[in-house]
Amino acid sequence: MTTPIHELDLPEIDVLNLDRPSAAIAFEDARRQHWLARIPLGYAVLAHGDVTAVLRDRRFHSALSLLPQISGLDGPLRARQERSILALEGDEHTRLRRLVSPAFTPKASDRLRPYMRQVIDRLVDRVVASGRCELVQDICEPYPIPIICELLGAPKEDWKRFSDWATDIFRIFNNDIAHDRPAIETAMAGLDRYVRAMVDERRTKPADDLLSQMIAVEEEGDRLSTDELVMMAEAVLMAGTDTTRNQLACAVALLAERPDQWARLASEPELAPRAVEETMRHLGTVRATVRVASEDIEYRDVLFPKGTLVMTSLAAANHDPEIWTDPDKLNIARVPSTSPQMTFGSGIHFCLGASLARAELQEALPLLARRMPNLALDGPIEWKPATAGIWGPTRLPIRFTPGHPSGGGDAGDE
Ligand code: HEM
Repeated sequence: MTTPIHELDLPEIDVLNLDRPSAAIAFEDARRQHWLARIPLGYAVLAHGDVTAVLRDRRFHSALSLLPQISGLDGPLRARQERSILALEGDEHTRLRRLVSPAFTPKASDRLRPYMRQVIDRLVDRVVASGRCELVQDICEPYPIPIICELLGAPKEDWKRFSDWATDIFRIFNNDIAHDRPAIETAMAGLDRYVRAMVDERRTKPADDLLSQMIAVEEEGDRLSTDELVMMAEAVLMAGTDTTRNQLACAVALLAERPDQWARLASEPELAPRAVEETMRHLGTVRATVRVASEDIEYRDVLFPKGTLVMTSLAAANHDPEIWTDPDKLNIARVPSTSPQMTFGSGIHFCLGASLARAELQEALPLLARRMPNLALDGPIEWKPATAGIWGPTRLPIRFTPGHPSGGGDAGDE
């Protein structure tokens, strides 16, 4: 018999007022009682199998389409956010995804690996002699922008502008739209103008970059419009920078407290792919995604009435003991499970940039381990509030045995 979700006797989690470690304990406790929990904005799904099933169920739509409305954004900028690939559903999303996917293959990301190594090497060069740095500001923050700009095909002298636009647009998530609106709108308009000019140029003069690839893509006479190309470039910049930098910081935060695994990564760099999956599983930067029931939905004998908000807890799924032995133990050599770690999501919105992000992390982590031996914390780690959509350390002071600059080639941003 199907029971409406609000009639169920469910554990409650006050997600808005818990720090990350307390939230993790609360989620574990709740999962022992039920696969669902009640949270202030709706319900949370806690088990790996159910998180995957909900994300794959096309009747649950991305709640990101509601974000502009919730954050108070209006006018053409709001309409644009609502047309983002992250917010689209149904046939519109399927068509877009089919057209852009060929540009996001592992092969396309592998092409950038030498460049990724140059960027990270150059960042380490700046701090390595002193034997200490603040990892977030010195390494993680600046790392992804040159990669995304190189991917898109933006020239080096414009990287700083991209970085500033990304920072300002991310203010949408700061919960102070009245104050931040002018900066957000100026940044969106600036990025929009810039990308439109780039699209115009690439239409006449194609180059070896993502934008040219997306312009060239054609399937049965169908092509991306200029508006769609601009949206995709913006989505890549927005979805591909803060995520990667926070995930890198999360991984180093974990390994700074496990010197044996840091040393092992330096001496066995071939462990990098496993280390990336394991650190993403153990401490993912995207803790959850939110879905909304687009109609009355029955799942596992529970009725989710139309409009119900459902948080799929990627973090809880990643520690599900049904899937992983000793889920709370970090082991960078862990043999991959047949069930994937969930920090890239699942279903139709599964991270389009997953192979690029994996490559960035797989290049950065062993290189840092090799060039920063005997890593240790040099003060307390400061973290974003647990409610942050993209979560991670805001300050991660570290020390290590000082080394000599190795010279990373022509990849810096000075
Ligand atoms: C460690 C880094 C990253 C993490 C943890 C991450 C995580 C995610 C997650 C969880 C989603 C799904 C959101 C949902 O279901 O609501 C997603 C979607 C997406 N990501 Fe990533 N991401 C990362 C890096 C990147 C990079 C580097 C790019 C760009 C090259 C990128 C581009 C996208 C795009 C375009 C989508 C939307 C896909 C769609 O809706 O069809 N991401 N990402």
